[in-house]
Amino acid sequence: MPVDVRAFTCKAGRDLWVIDVAMPLPQRPFSSVAHVATECIAIADRTAELFADESALIERAAVKRREQFSSGRVAAHRLFARLSGEPLPVLRGEGRAPRWPAGWIGSISHGAQYALAALASLAHVGGVGVDVEARGRLTAKMLRLIMTPGEVARANGDLDRALVVFSAKESLYKALQPRVGGFIGFHDVEVDVDHSEFRARYRGQRDLSAAVAACRGYALCGDDAVATLVVLPAEGAPL
Ligand SMILES: CC(C)(COP(=O)(O)OP(=O)(O)OC[C@H]1O[C@@H](n2cnc3c(N)ncnc32)[C@H](O)[C@@H]1OP(=O)(O)O)[C@@H](O)C(=O)NCCC(=O)NCCS
Repeated sequence: MPVDVRAFTCKAGRDLWVIDVAMPLPQRPFSSVAHVATECIAIADRTAELFADESALIERAAVKRREQFSSGRVAAHRLFARLSGEPLPVLRGEGRAPRWPAGWIGSISHGAQYALAALASLAHVGGVGVDVEARGRLTAKMLRLIMTPGEVARANGDLDRALVVFSAKESLYKALQPRVGGFIGFHDVEVDVDHSEFRARYRGQRDLSAAVAACRGYALCGDDAVATLVVLPAEGAPL
């Protein structure tokens, strides 16, 4: 389906912050971001396409989890096929984080309808995080749990803006946590969205200010979902 920005903007009836608008989310969102490839696919039961070691990770999982896990992994396989010529398995690392094959870094997310994966070479990028969230999933009551007072004020009661901030934080966590370890809470970072890009500032007690400030964030709003991407530059790369 062709991208129809005007129709979407009219339907939403207000400035969404996010100018890179598509309906629905494109198959390869954030394609203008250097060094990172993405793949967005519909959630479906794709367990038959998993590698045996991946299947073993969801042997006893419920149907919904099997659909989400297999769709995320298949999106990642397609990225490997695109970037390296052969699909590679993505197993599980520390915590629930994916374990990427040597030399690669990536990220996986699954919302109600979409699975989204990102992949990059560690030669170019230090960390990657993606997140996809169904529009309408946030309620006003949830905002103070996931947003700082400054973020709540800037969202100005707009739940789509709030969803972009929430998604941005999930992507930040996925890009940073495997590098820095430990937990980073929703009130430990403050996200500032400027149209389709965002930056973040660390407000917590750990020594993470430089890492968080180095992250570059990108947001995209489709008619049924919001997606974000965070890229942490490779160590030593110009920021
Ligand atoms: C880990 C977390 C970000 C996952 O997000 P989610 O909305 O629950 O689920 P999503 O579908 O978007 O992402 C799930 C995927 O995240 C990935 N993931 C899980 N833990 C991860 C970690 N520590 N680092 C990187 N990726 C991780 C996995 O690939 C998982 O999918 P899989 O189990 O099928 O492999 C979330 O559960 C969480 O713990 N958030 C709290 C911390 C936070 O967000 N802080 C914000 C301030 S930085």
